[in-house]
Amino acid sequence: MASRIAIVFGAGQNIGTSTVNTFKAAGYKVAHVSRSADGAKDDNTYAVSADLTKPSSVSNVFDKVRGAWGEPSVVVYNAAAVHFTEKEKSLDVATEDFETDLAINTTSAFVAAREAFASFQKSSGPRTFLYTGNATLAGPLPGALTLGVGKNATAHVIRLAEQQFRDQDIRFVPLLSLPQRYFFVDERKEDGKPMFTGLGGQAHADFFLSLAERKTAGEVPYNATFVSGKGYTEFPNELIL
Ligand SMILES: NC(=O)c1ccc[n+]([C@@H]2O[C@H](COP(=O)([O-])OP(=O)(O)OC[C@H]3O[C@@H](n4cnc5c(N)ncnc54)[C@H](OP(=O)(O)O)[C@@H]3O)[C@@H](O)[C@H]2O)c1
Repeated sequence: MASRIAIVFGAGQNIGTSTVNTFKAAGYKVAHVSRSADGAKDDNTYAVSADLTKPSSVSNVFDKVRGAWGEPSVVVYNAAAVHFTEKEKSLDVATEDFETDLAINTTSAFVAAREAFASFQKSSGPRTFLYTGNATLAGPLPGALTLGVGKNATAHVIRLAEQQFRDQDIRFVPLLSLPQRYFFVDERKEDGKPMFTGLGGQAHADFFLSLAERKTAGEVPYNATFVSGKGYTEFPNELIL
């Protein structure tokens, strides 16, 4: 059987490194994408340089990976950007900063989802799009407007893709194909509070792999809130601070 292929966008020292290593250990070829990636490539790893403020760079990454290895079955989008403001001045963001953050948090993530869907149409077996989200889906965080706007907009893309394409697979090839899945992954503290500190790189990697391999304890919805060591955990749809 051909190796499964994963791409990790926004791969740095925390979630990125853990995800690359975890998927490699599970038998995947893994391309990892950042501005500082040096282009190094071997049989199982490919360091692809791209600037995700430029959404067109996302398709270039897919072209390179397809040319080198073939169609990915797992796409992780982990890059994010924010221009913080004082909490009382949440709208105090320059238009160009708003646009840059939206490009990273949403437009490039949308292109990654669109390209992932194109790849997923050409293969069977589990195929999974994973976006690193946060608790702003449950409510706004004063002072972090551009982050919340971007995460919420991308959550809409993910929710719609999950709704449409998961059903599509079930309708047309019920026995041959596992459904495509699209997840907004949001690590929380045990009490449901956001991860302002201590975000778990390995915890994300383990949860990503369990979702990609369909090895979660139970059914997980598109809004995949999880707690390190526990897996998917449902929380009220309101920000707990
Ligand atoms: N669940 C929560 O409550 C919570 C809390 C905090 C964070 N998060 C999310 O966690 C994710 C970040 O996790 P992390 O700890 O793995 O971050 P990280 O270690 O900083 O890795 C992110 C990587 O993205 C790359 N990157 C940034 N801007 C880029 C750009 N324009 N083009 C290409 N690559 C870019 C950076 O590499 P280069 O500099 O080399 O490009 C960076 O190393 C974000 O999505 C964030 O919103 C969630």
